[in-house]
Amino acid sequence: MANSQPFRPSHRVDAFFRMIREDISAVRRGDPAALSKVSIVLNYSGLHAVWGYRVSSALWRRGHRLLGRLVSQFARFLTGIEIHPGAKIGRRLFIDHGMGVVIGETAEIGDDVLIYHGVTLGGVSTKKIKRHPTIGDRVMIGAGAKLLGPIEIGADSSVGANAVVTKSAPPNSILTGVPARARQRTTPATHEPGDWII
Ligand SMILES: CC(C)(COP(=O)(O)OP(=O)(O)OC[C@H]1O[C@@H](n2cnc3c(N)ncnc32)[C@H](O)[C@@H]1OP(=O)(O)O)[C@@H](O)C(=O)NCCC(=O)NCCS
Repeated sequence: MANSQPFRPSHRVDAFFRMIREDISAVRRGDPAALSKVSIVLNYSGLHAVWGYRVSSALWRRGHRLLGRLVSQFARFLTGIEIHPGAKIGRRLFIDHGMGVVIGETAEIGDDVLIYHGVTLGGVSTKKIKRHPTIGDRVMIGAGAKLLGPIEIGADSSVGANAVVTKSAPPNSILTGVPARARQRTTPATHEPGDWII
């Protein structure tokens, strides 16, 4: 007898596909050069790295640490982006261009963050403690910037290209230079949540 119940994917499957659509949408929002969804899925290493991270992180959290690291290293081999599976990353992270990005084990990244190539979220301690930065929602980190230590960068901040940031900064900061100096944003951030094109 035919099953009269309509097929309803589970919430998990729904959430999975929503996450995929959001990640693609983050690329379309973050890169004016982005073309079609197909082109984004095929061509954006940053997207591939984030998806690799989602797999490696799920394995890591379930205790499959070696497998998690292997997936992470494979994603690094493919994309040039190294994200430790122990890092905590929110929704819609977009890594543009990507090559040379390193995100350490105890780094935490909020939602809607934009990271360009050559960025390091690194540690300055070899102790097994929280040693990597915490990045607030909607932060933009410019190409080549290095953020070092267990610092906190407040939401809606922008880190200038090639800045070296070693101190925490409040929300809405603009950080530039070596070592980076923070000033308060006076105009609205250009990198805003915006409407999702899902
Ligand atoms: C810092 C940044 C976020 C802009 O901030 P902003 O407040 O709009 O900056 P402005 O353009 O008004 O410049 C303000 C001052 O900061 C300086 N400045 C801007 N970016 C800087 C940087 N990365 N490092 C050092 N100084 C910088 C400007 O020269 C200007 O100096 P002045 O006041 O002496 O003239 C931006 O310049 C930046 O670095 N974005 C990263 C973009 C990126 O990496 N793109 C890669 C695409 S592939």
